[in-house]
Amino acid sequence: MPTELAPAKVNLYLHVTGRRADGYHLLDSLAVFGPAADALALAPADDLSLALDGPFGAALAAEPDNLVLRAARALAAAVGVPARAAMVLTKRLPVASGIGGGSADAAAALRGLDRLWGLGLGEGRLAEVAAPLGADIPVCLASRPARMQGVGEVLLPAPALPRCGLLLVNPGVALPTPAVFKARQGGFTPPAELPAAWPDAAGMARDLAGLRNDLEPPAITLCPVIAEVLAALRALPGCLLARMSGSGATCFGLFADAAAAQSAARLLPSGWWREAGGLYGGAA
Ligand code: C5P
Repeated sequence: MPTELAPAKVNLYLHVTGRRADGYHLLDSLAVFGPAADALALAPADDLSLALDGPFGAALAAEPDNLVLRAARALAAAVGVPARAAMVLTKRLPVASGIGGGSADAAAALRGLDRLWGLGLGEGRLAEVAAPLGADIPVCLASRPARMQGVGEVLLPAPALPRCGLLLVNPGVALPTPAVFKARQGGFTPPAELPAAWPDAAGMARDLAGLRNDLEPPAITLCPVIAEVLAALRALPGCLLARMSGSGATCFGLFADAAAAQSAARLLPSGWWREAGGLYGGAA
C-alpha cells in the first residue's frame, strides 16, 4: 500500500508578532522536520475510511472531525471528485503535543490523495485547500525547513541548515493549542533576523539562543513539568540548545549530529516519550 510519511514539525523558535482581528496570532517561526513521523497508508476503496494504529492510535478517535478525514473531504469537494479511500494512520507522534501531528497527518492525506486520485494538484493548490483546516498544514505539506509567517500560511525560505541532531521529549501531557495562546501574557516580539546559512550546529544554536518561543512561558504555567523537561535536556552532554516546540508540551534538544542526540536520549529519565535523530531529509 502506498504510504506517506508525516514527520514531526519542530519550531526552532516561535515569535508571536501580532494578532489579527479574528483572534488568530501572527507568527514568525523557523520550522524543521524530524526525527519521528506518523505514517499514512492509502488504498483505493468504495468509500472513505480511516483506521488508527501505532502507539498513540488509541489516543485519537477516527471520528468525522478527525483532521485526516476533514482534509480528505475538503480535497474531494474542492476538485469535485467522490471522497473514496481506505486509510490507515500509524500514530507514532504524541497527540496535541506541539510537533504538528494532526497537521502533518492532514498534509500526508492531501499528498497521498492527490496521488491516489490522480489529481496532480501539487503543493501550491493543496496548500490552498489546506489553509482553512489548520495553520500548520501548509508547512507540513512540504515537510522541509521553512520560515513561517502570517498565521502560518506564508512560507519563506529557511537559512541553509547545517548537519545537526534533534532529541524530542514529551512528558505525556496533552496541551490544547488555543489554551496556550489564551494564557499568553505580554506584548509582541519582532520577527527574527536570520543569516542566509548556518555553517555548523553550534553557530545555529548560538543564534537561536538569542530568539525564543513566546508560547513557552504560558505553556509552562499550564503544564509545569515542561520546565523539568527543559532542565533535563539542558543537563545532557552535547545539548547545544533546549526549547519547547509549537504550543508544547514537546521540547527539543539540539545536538551536533544524530548520534549525539541518540546517545543523550538514553540518559533521560524513563517515562517520557523521546525520539532522536537527524533532520528529515537532511544529513545525519
Ligand atoms: O490552526 P490550528 O488548528 O493549528 O490552531 C488551533 C488554535 O490555535 C486556533 O483556533 C487559535 O486559537 C490558535 N492559533 C492562533 N494563531 C495561530 C495558530 C493557532 O491563535 N497562528
